[in-house]
Amino acid sequence: MMEIWQSLKSRHAAIAERPILALFEDEMRADDFSVQTQDMRLDYSKTNIDRDTRADLIALLEATGVAAKRDAMFRGEKINETEGRAVLHTALRNLDAGSVEVDGQDVMPGVRVSLKRMRQFANEVRQSGITDVVNIGIGGSDLGPAMAVAALAPYHDGPRCHFVSNVDGAHIADTLRGLDAKTTLVIVASKTFTTIETMTNARTARAWMVDHGGDPETQFVALSTAEDKTTAFGITPERVFGFEDWVGGRYSVWGPIGLSLMIAIGPDGFDAFLRGAQAMDLHFCAAEPLENMPMMLALTGIWHNQICDFATRAVLPYDQRLSLLPDYLQQLEMESNGKRVQMDGSDAAHHTGPVVWGAAGTNGQHAFYQLIHQGTRVIPCEFMVAANGHEPELAHHHQLLVANCLAQSEALMRGRSLMQARRLMEEKGLEGDELERQAKHRVFPGNRPSTTLVYERLDPFTLGQIIALYEHRVFVEGVMLGINSYDQWGVELGKELATSLQPVVEGEASAEGKDSSTAALVDYLIRHRDR
Ligand code: F6P
Repeated sequence: MMEIWQSLKSRHAAIAERPILALFEDEMRADDFSVQTQDMRLDYSKTNIDRDTRADLIALLEATGVAAKRDAMFRGEKINETEGRAVLHTALRNLDAGSVEVDGQDVMPGVRVSLKRMRQFANEVRQSGITDVVNIGIGGSDLGPAMAVAALAPYHDGPRCHFVSNVDGAHIADTLRGLDAKTTLVIVASKTFTTIETMTNARTARAWMVDHGGDPETQFVALSTAEDKTTAFGITPERVFGFEDWVGGRYSVWGPIGLSLMIAIGPDGFDAFLRGAQAMDLHFCAAEPLENMPMMLALTGIWHNQICDFATRAVLPYDQRLSLLPDYLQQLEMESNGKRVQMDGSDAAHHTGPVVWGAAGTNGQHAFYQLIHQGTRVIPCEFMVAANGHEPELAHHHQLLVANCLAQSEALMRGRSLMQARRLMEEKGLEGDELERQAKHRVFPGNRPSTTLVYERLDPFTLGQIIALYEHRVFVEGVMLGINSYDQWGVELGKELATSLQPVVEGEASAEGKDSSTAALVDYLIRHRDR
């Protein structure tokens, strides 16, 4: 395996300066370096990957045992070894399909019962006088439904949905202001039902509801794996939608954590969302690497991050309704693959997950694209855009959006040479030293890689496909790096220290034992607190 990594590094060294544009002398390149499913196309031709590199990348994927690990995951084996858990978010969308066993037990009957209860409840809520739904959760218990609800706004025909995540009181205060407590449903979403932010917000929401004439007994539900804790909070089991520990938080939008989405778009819309993800699962399990969209997306990731050493990647959806997708993918990718130890406990042999960031186009163009085009670091960009918007009367907006998306990837690849920049300056009447100086500022180095995902329309089915595409991409990269993508021990230390600092910040314990920086900051904050 080391030889393949080495071969990839040598290839990169040899071709790093080769213009991507030169690869298009091969007339077949666009098609050959794209993967197509029934209704989506992923184009990775605007990267420096050539046939030899791709063959090495596929060899690496095969040598690292991705296919076997994938099959083990889908079969319900406990591939999350550091937590001793199966990884079966895929079972939540395994509609009308066969059994999936964990510890010799078929989990599918439970999945179907849970889905049926969600459908019944969502229909009841949609037919009741509930006007607003407030989902209280954080991380995976917030980002998935919040992102999907925003993405599928044109399909909303249920109550309005709001999302509260931050423990900053501003978040819940701003959300509840203006809501009618008598017609609001509060969903407390927490896999563990111990997350301090969520429990604090849930208690505040309950007090608000009591104070404003609502009834928490009938207007609160919980989404959790911990029924003892939901009961202790005062939510009776009939109002709890449970799930199992084999659904990771950041992979949980497909089950009860997606309840707010189901209420917003209706059970049939949610069904289409699951079917989209299922279609991607089937594709991921069946297609050969070269035709496999998650695998090829993962290989471009490995190429850019581990081989070319580009430390970040930007996700740039040209769709305003996907403006939360970069946040969602940040958790999905960085919590999953931000590790430094391999599955066997040894140190990671390569850099692991990249920094993932981004924003909806075209807004990003007017904020950070300057650095992407002319900065000193190369940032691989992942564009996505639909063939159709949802506003036929505003089709000209959509054409502009598409043109901008395609223009950016073209500009990144082509760049503008010094000669071209000089010509531009000549046309403006500049000459001599001033022409030279001004021209240099107008050079674009180009040769900056990007991928582009295109699809027909951002409907529930397509959104399901896109999210599952990224989930599997993260999985493939994780296996290739030898890490466990399904634990998140890195969030624990901060939580422990916050718990120990709380009484100090409240002035009820001394800062003794803390470093002098922390102690001085606490001291400043306490002394400047309004009395
Ligand atoms: O950030 C850590 C984390 O455990 C995430 O993995 C999870 O999505 C989030 O906290 C919320 O956890 P819970 O659903 O248990 O409240």
